Amino acid sequence: MRNSIRAAITGVAAYVPEYILSNAELEKMVDTTDEWIVSRTGIKERHILKGEGKGTSVMATKAVEELLAKTHTNPLDIDLIICATTTPDMQFPATANIVADKVGAKNAWGYDLNAACSGFLYALTTASKIIESGSANKVVVIGGDKMSSIIDYSDRSTCVIFGDGAGAVLLEPTQEDIGIIDTIMRSDGSGRIHLHQKAGGSAMPATHDTVTHKLHYVYQEGQAVFKFAVTNMADVAEQIVTRNQLTPETIAWLVPHQANKRIIDATARRIGIDDSKVMINIERYGNTTNGTIPICLWEWEKKLHKGDNIILAAFGGGFTWGAVYLKWAYNS
Ligand code: ACO
Repeated sequence: MRNSIRAAITGVAAYVPEYILSNAELEKMVDTTDEWIVSRTGIKERHILKGEGKGTSVMATKAVEELLAKTHTNPLDIDLIICATTTPDMQFPATANIVADKVGAKNAWGYDLNAACSGFLYALTTASKIIESGSANKVVVIGGDKMSSIIDYSDRSTCVIFGDGAGAVLLEPTQEDIGIIDTIMRSDGSGRIHLHQKAGGSAMPATHDTVTHKLHYVYQEGQAVFKFAVTNMADVAEQIVTRNQLTPETIAWLVPHQANKRIIDATARRIGIDDSKVMINIERYGNTTNGTIPICLWEWEKKLHKGDNIILAAFGGGFTWGAVYLKWAYNS
């Protein structure tokens, strides 16, 4: 038993929508090929949320409902919900509030956190500090995005990359030697010029012109972002591994944000682990932004064992990036 409190992930769930957008279908929509997409990104298909009026909360709610059921958690016992998303249902209220309402978490407070693709790690870090302070016992951290709502499906450089999906974890306090042990979170706002959504915020509210000029979609200078992503995600993963005296042998899993298979490979190489210890599902989901890491944990849950050393790493718009070191808390 340790004296101090740590936050441990005690359950994970996720939801991806049914509709699958394949590379073959994209070949009919824009000037691209399956070969280009697979060789440059590793993506074969992605899931898309279809239907009028359906936002990120639809997927997040399904993930949280599954999470509560499998962890036998009464929604009234949830203290806090943090929803990491770049595509909230609305500018306000927060998607976290909408999800809380839908799942019956009537005693929870909650908010959205926006750090693009690093949002889930930012939220996990924040939630773990709140638990360590003793002011919350059951915190739900959601990572989810309906990226299809801000993607221009006539722009081949972005539409092949992104998909929709959401995942959620339950965090609870522990005094055992498990849970979230270390986090390194970084940001550099000067990187905003390379990756952003120009209109729809307070700097450029929606007008007929912004719609006509397609300013509500993701703007990305792919190569510039790639250069920063590949360096920073690998750097921060290496830093957290080194300062916790971990070695390739003692690391059970690397869980990287799924933006590009080449960025994932570079991060794995830097910390010296081979593919068999890296969670990679980008080929089936693409980049679901805040969803990638919890969706990976959900898919691999049965292979995780109590005490496993796990490194999470992400890079995203902002720029934002970070890494988390945790010891898995349960056998499923
Ligand atoms: N099909 C065919 N050709 C294409 C496509 C496509 N889908 N997209 C672009 N091309 C072309 C370009 O037009 C260009 O042609 P040109 O040489 O004639 O001008 C050529 O392919 C090369 O384009 P690049 O942009 O240099 O391609 P690159 O190898 O860099 O791959 C990609 C692009 C996949 C976007 C890559 O740069 C990348 O992964 N960047 C990082 C993305 C990332 O990590 N984002 C952060 C997280 S996202 C978030 O936070 C919301």
